[in-house]
Amino acid sequence: AVDVNYNFNIVNANIAPDGFSRAAVLVNGAFPGTLIQAQKNDVLHITVNNQLSNPTMRQSTTIHWHGLFQMRTASEDGPAFVTQCPIAPGHSYTYDIPLNGQSGTFWYHSHLSSQYVDGLRGALVVYDPTDPHLSLYDEDNANTVITLADWYHNPAPGLEDVFLAGNDEPIPDSGTINGIGRYVGGPTVVRARINVVTGKRYRFRVINISAYSGFRFSIEGHSLTIIEVDGINHVAKTVDGFDIYAAQRYSVVLNANQPVKNYWIRAPMELQHSSDNHNLDTKNVYAVLHYSGAPDAEPTTPADVGVQNLLQEYQLAALENPGAPGGSAPADRVIDLDFGRSVINNKLEWTINGVQYQSPDLPTLLNIIANNFTVESDFSQPEHTSVLNFNDVVELRIHGSANGHIHPFHLHGHAFDIVQSMGGPVNYVNPPRRDVVGVGGSTVIIRFRADNPGPWFLHCHIDWHLEAGLAVVFAEAPNEQRTGPKAEIIKPEWLDLCTIYKALP
Ligand code: C2O
Repeated sequence: AVDVNYNFNIVNANIAPDGFSRAAVLVNGAFPGTLIQAQKNDVLHITVNNQLSNPTMRQSTTIHWHGLFQMRTASEDGPAFVTQCPIAPGHSYTYDIPLNGQSGTFWYHSHLSSQYVDGLRGALVVYDPTDPHLSLYDEDNANTVITLADWYHNPAPGLEDVFLAGNDEPIPDSGTINGIGRYVGGPTVVRARINVVTGKRYRFRVINISAYSGFRFSIEGHSLTIIEVDGINHVAKTVDGFDIYAAQRYSVVLNANQPVKNYWIRAPMELQHSSDNHNLDTKNVYAVLHYSGAPDAEPTTPADVGVQNLLQEYQLAALENPGAPGGSAPADRVIDLDFGRSVINNKLEWTINGVQYQSPDLPTLLNIIANNFTVESDFSQPEHTSVLNFNDVVELRIHGSANGHIHPFHLHGHAFDIVQSMGGPVNYVNPPRRDVVGVGGSTVIIRFRADNPGPWFLHCHIDWHLEAGLAVVFAEAPNEQRTGPKAEIIKPEWLDLCTIYKALP
């Protein structure tokens, strides 16, 4: 294993991704933050130095490495009060993460309240020298990573307060591609450009690092062959475009075999309620695919068109596919999850099975180490935690509500098989596998094997909904984690985080 080191200074600085300058919370001063690149089986060491000081935004921090399984390293997963105490201002913590054979497209973001809305987010790519799809593309590097992000002009804590008082989700001011966007009435910011050379095939790694928005992604004049979904290789599937919800990723191959010119990269936003933010033109999210030799100009073709052959998630099949764990036999554990929204006395709650998730004062992982989770609970407490037995086949039946949102549900510590996708057929044989699934007005069924001890968050990745409580925690195999033959080794610095945090004024 090769050690790969990164240094993240978390700082407050002013940036203007869409031409509007505002203070932000940034990794090494940039939005998106520093790209993390590693090879399969490397060990990541990311030192996070918390240098935050701006009182209008959150000053403690944590970082979650979205999609990395953290097998036997749950302490490095990042969600505040699930697997760690926040890193206090002026303090540092080094996340040590063996990649354990995972490869693909991931990202990272703050996992302390709504802090990532203010900018702390970036891409993380793990290359596989033995990638089974290697023969399909020529180029795969830092220049072929494409991030899509919503962006707000106001700091997240204020937006969150208004939302939690019972209002609709805050509407972004703009959508950005590779950190560049425009808002209505703003300056004509030069759009992001992806350069290609005729005759080459490119692996674009498209990552939705949004706090709220989905996007409908396509590239004018080109089809896209999907080969990887959320860090899992899939059977190659060619489409004209796809919907990508918050926190999802797709690797697609584009063959630069069209006439030399400029083409639109289109990512209109999909917000699920009507916009009342006049700064936002939801369609106005574009970048330029530039063929070498073409003039230095935006395309002149109409920007806003539909997508013909749009991906349906159920059409995907994971490449190495033994089928869903347990096959079509009944799962060891079936859990029904119903969610709901209520506003009582100007206080908004999103609930699962009637209970709003509320962070405990100390991380759930600390409770596990102290042996406080030995019996199965029933999600009745505000910590909303349920114990899973080691190696059980777990089936979650997530029942969509009809209120109009598509909720991108993310499970930490796992990828899961999607036995039934939104509106799709039931498939235990060769389903898609990923770590964020959209749940709309129908039931979505997912399966995974509880083979990764740790407290794993399952939550809606619309960050506003998570803040309002749309989450549960699975305490997976707590005894195994605490005292099993491969019990997790807790670092003293990890314990120090809580000592320091609790001492904050
Ligand atoms: Cu990107 Cu809790 O997740």
